[in-house]
Amino acid sequence: MSLVFLKEHTTFKIGGPAGEFVVASSEAELLSAVARAQKNNTPILILGGGSNMLVSDEGFAGVVVQMALKGIRYAEKGDLVRAIVEAGESWDGLVADTVAQGLYGLENLSGIPGTVGASPIQNIGAYGAEVKDTIEWVEVLDKHTLKVKRLSNADCQFAYRHSFFKTPEGRALVVLRVCFLLKKNGVLNLAYKDIGEYGVRKNIMDFSLATLREAILEIRKGKFPDLTKFGTAGSFFKNPIISQEQYESLKIKWPNLPGFPLSTINYQLLTFKIPLAWILDNVCGLKGTREGNVGLFQNQPLVLTNFGGATAQEVSDFAQKIIKIVFEKTGITIEPEVERI
Ligand code: EPU
Repeated sequence: MSLVFLKEHTTFKIGGPAGEFVVASSEAELLSAVARAQKNNTPILILGGGSNMLVSDEGFAGVVVQMALKGIRYAEKGDLVRAIVEAGESWDGLVADTVAQGLYGLENLSGIPGTVGASPIQNIGAYGAEVKDTIEWVEVLDKHTLKVKRLSNADCQFAYRHSFFKTPEGRALVVLRVCFLLKKNGVLNLAYKDIGEYGVRKNIMDFSLATLREAILEIRKGKFPDLTKFGTAGSFFKNPIISQEQYESLKIKWPNLPGFPLSTINYQLLTFKIPLAWILDNVCGLKGTREGNVGLFQNQPLVLTNFGGATAQEVSDFAQKIIKIVFEKTGITIEPEVERI
């Protein structure tokens, strides 16, 4: 049996061998792989597109299950349409399909690498939308009980790049399929700054679903490294959420620091989401910084890039340095968005 290296299955192009590598093309195949691993007390790693993980150079000493369940079913519900999508479908393939069908809801999430099954886990988001806004329910396999169950949107406890699936209890669940509730007659969400700027640049007065998708694909192309040439997992860190007090004190030193008000705590205090890219660029001067094979991408410093041949250790060491510099300059503790395996 030849070894399967996870660097061949992750967008970071990093990761040692899998103990065992199984492709699950049906629910029955998945169930049998999970049941066998549970029986043998072997750890399991469910792999979608491998687009949000940094796998160690030693690899994964367990069973890696590549999720390959496929299928998209549409069902009308008045003015809405349900799209019930199997976990192994490509995320952007789904977005392209819904846009082609004239359905509103997923268009702002165009161009995100990865699979449908991974989308609720970290509540993927971009250009003013988050997947939680369209998810009706998620069907999962419980690795411990081997039973299938359905979680409602509320059960998923979605938050910024977070969900129940990331909690210790939720980690027992394998996403099988996701039901999205889409609109036949929706309103486009054009509020994100980059979309407006693109419209002015291209002289587009009136976006359609198709032209908005095109715009987002083009905006992304300008910001993210070409995945065929370099390794990345998109934004390596989450944008930090800080208190109003901390935001105001940082604004004294950096008056142009952007901040987006979030929730009210105790009806008094606001929290602010801060673009870390701005801090890395304007406060730390780290945009485009590079050490060996690893660096912060020139067009978007939040994107930690493997310029070729980087090890997981190199990426981790580099990330630690960034965390330290940001803390020393701002007092903010930043957290990785990417999952370390
Ligand atoms: N900025 C700079 N210098 C730069 C780039 C950006 O100062 O070189 C500042 C600008 O002020 C800009 C702000 O940072 O307005 C925010 O940048 P951007 O709009 O590119 O978004 P982001 O906050 O850096 C987030 C998501 C991305 C998503 C984009 C677009 C996170 C961690 N990242 O990035 O998601 O594509 O918004 O909506 O929330 C991902 O999660 O992997 C991901 C790529």
